[in-house]
Amino acid sequence: MSQAQPAILEPLPPLARYLEFNLAAPADPSAALRRLAPLVDGRTLVLGIGASLVAQLGRSVPGLRSLACATGPGVEIPATPAALWCWLRGEDRGDFVHASRAVAAALGDGFVLERCLDAFRYRGGLDLSGYEDGTENPTGDAAVAAAVLQGAGAGLDGSSFVAVQQWRHDFARLDALSPAQQDATIGRRRSDNVELDDAPESAHVKRTAQESFEPEAFVLRRSMPWADAQHGGLVFVAFGRSFDAFEAQLRRMIGGDDGLVDALFGFTRPLSGAYYWCPPLRDGRLDLRALGL
Ligand code: HEM
Repeated sequence: MSQAQPAILEPLPPLARYLEFNLAAPADPSAALRRLAPLVDGRTLVLGIGASLVAQLGRSVPGLRSLACATGPGVEIPATPAALWCWLRGEDRGDFVHASRAVAAALGDGFVLERCLDAFRYRGGLDLSGYEDGTENPTGDAAVAAAVLQGAGAGLDGSSFVAVQQWRHDFARLDALSPAQQDATIGRRRSDNVELDDAPESAHVKRTAQESFEPEAFVLRRSMPWADAQHGGLVFVAFGRSFDAFEAQLRRMIGGDDGLVDALFGFTRPLSGAYYWCPPLRDGRLDLRALGL
């Protein structure tokens, strides 16, 4: 029986690592994927496959496309596509070292590691701005309906599409805003997470209010903070049964609907962005039938 990689529907782990690989040479990647598949349990390792890899296999996954670069007034959305995305989840960074080595060894020299980013849970689920992230996520059956493909046929049912963007916060810009301006940026009160009745139209939760889209645009967000010695921000991760809901939200955020840009851009910007298809599990094992494997 087919099911989603379970971690997609589970709460965030204390720690995570994201690996993005590209194809190193135009060779047949089937053997590498066959070696990788047994490592993907969908819990400690969630796998996403990019459009370039699917095409290299001579296949297509209906609904899988590449994130397009986009611009709005004063804002740029970069696209940094990759062939393969691994979301390592756990509570020990040492485990990620060894899991990363195992993934790289399974992939062999046909793949090259493009990006590696470690992430963590902050105070039980806050963004580094101090605001609770994920409050309006759908839960239970609604989460499955938002994030998991159904009725698409064997090998596709149980799969998910995921949008991944690394955002870098400018904490000095955030600090320069008064607490009231900060709350108006998000549209919620940091102190108690209550949504502001009088939030401006530019407030992030007004821009992205999932029920306000036609059709409604629900996604399952599983974002986590990242930080290095100098910078920090959010790895935005949104699972969907398609990319449509994410794209509708992002379009409105960058002013594509009404020219009004999300106030969030006042203190944070995306550095990267890519789309992946997350295959289902079948009897507990990665199901790559849609790719002919
Ligand atoms: C650094 C980037 C971002 C930060 C810090 C951030 C933060 C937040 C916060 C604090 C909330 C309110 C609580 C909640 O419901 O989760 C929220 C809501 C939301 N965000 Fe973001 N977000 C970011 C980027 C994005 C992007 C890129 C999208 C989609 C394109 C997005 C979609 C949403 C959605 C759908 C909601 C819930 C809206 C609702 O239905 O009430 N966010 N975000």
